[in-house]
Amino acid sequence: MKVLVATEKPFAKVAVDGIRKVVDQAGYELELLEKYTDRSQLLDAVADVDALIVRSDIVDEDVLSAAHKLKIVVRAGAGYDNIDLKAATAHGVVVENTPGQNSNAVAELVFGLAVMAVRNMYNGTSGTELKDKKLGIHAFGQVGRNVARIAKGFGMTVNALDPYCPDEVMTQAGVGSVHDVKDLYAGNDIVSLHIPATPETKGSVNYELITSLPKNGVLINTARKEVIDEAGLARALEDRPDIKYVADIKPDNASELTEKFAGRVFFTPKKMGAQTAEANINAGIAAANQVVAFLRDGVDRFRVN
Ligand code: 3PG
Repeated sequence: MKVLVATEKPFAKVAVDGIRKVVDQAGYELELLEKYTDRSQLLDAVADVDALIVRSDIVDEDVLSAAHKLKIVVRAGAGYDNIDLKAATAHGVVVENTPGQNSNAVAELVFGLAVMAVRNMYNGTSGTELKDKKLGIHAFGQVGRNVARIAKGFGMTVNALDPYCPDEVMTQAGVGSVHDVKDLYAGNDIVSLHIPATPETKGSVNYELITSLPKNGVLINTARKEVIDEAGLARALEDRPDIKYVADIKPDNASELTEKFAGRVFFTPKKMGAQTAEANINAGIAAANQVVAFLRDGVDRFRVN
């Protein structure tokens, strides 16, 4: 059996070593395709593999039809919007993710971005502190829960909205439950986005929500750029000169925003949330173990299609 790790944005070496160990122990063969610059390299590499481990790499109909022997794709991470689930199902390919494995890394970056925003992007002027401020968490999944835990250490008041999470889970975490999305934005100094990119959520963080933020509000996006209505965001930043937007994902209108709203917007050049050795090890090795469990024993506990 051949397992391909195809990562345009590679894992730390220590994570690749861990993946190799798991694959070797199972008696399978590991192939690596890192930092590829052309899709044709991925299409060639998948031709004879039984399993594929990816990060945000696009796995669409083209990839699936080029992968004649493919049985399983594991997205080493949380969001699987980069994988065409329908096409995978049609090709008889199981798709899994590794929920929770990189969530602390993403949550820590939220605070890297939050401090940067409230300290005016470190421009030397007086900013504010996070202590005693209100934090609104938009979706209380694995990342959202880690964000809440860390926010407590900063002395913040934490509220969350998540129609899929029972209020008791939030109460137990010392987090207030909010049931109307507008209240989440209007009632918190900082809102941190943790919703997945789905047909329902795409473009849902719009002008109306962003301009509901209180004075000097900050919107943090370590989720997906697609959840933002980018034209609405530009309009909101124009109409509300007190608002800031900091993100781990470059929006499509990044150059317009950077030019017009210098000092109030920040984007990482490449998605950095899960780029820690720990997250790479956790997600990469979990993915390798899931591949082996599936190929050897048919276990598909983390299947998403
Ligand atoms: C995820 O969905 O797990 C995160 O966005 C991390 O994505 P990455 O593996 O491409 O860094």
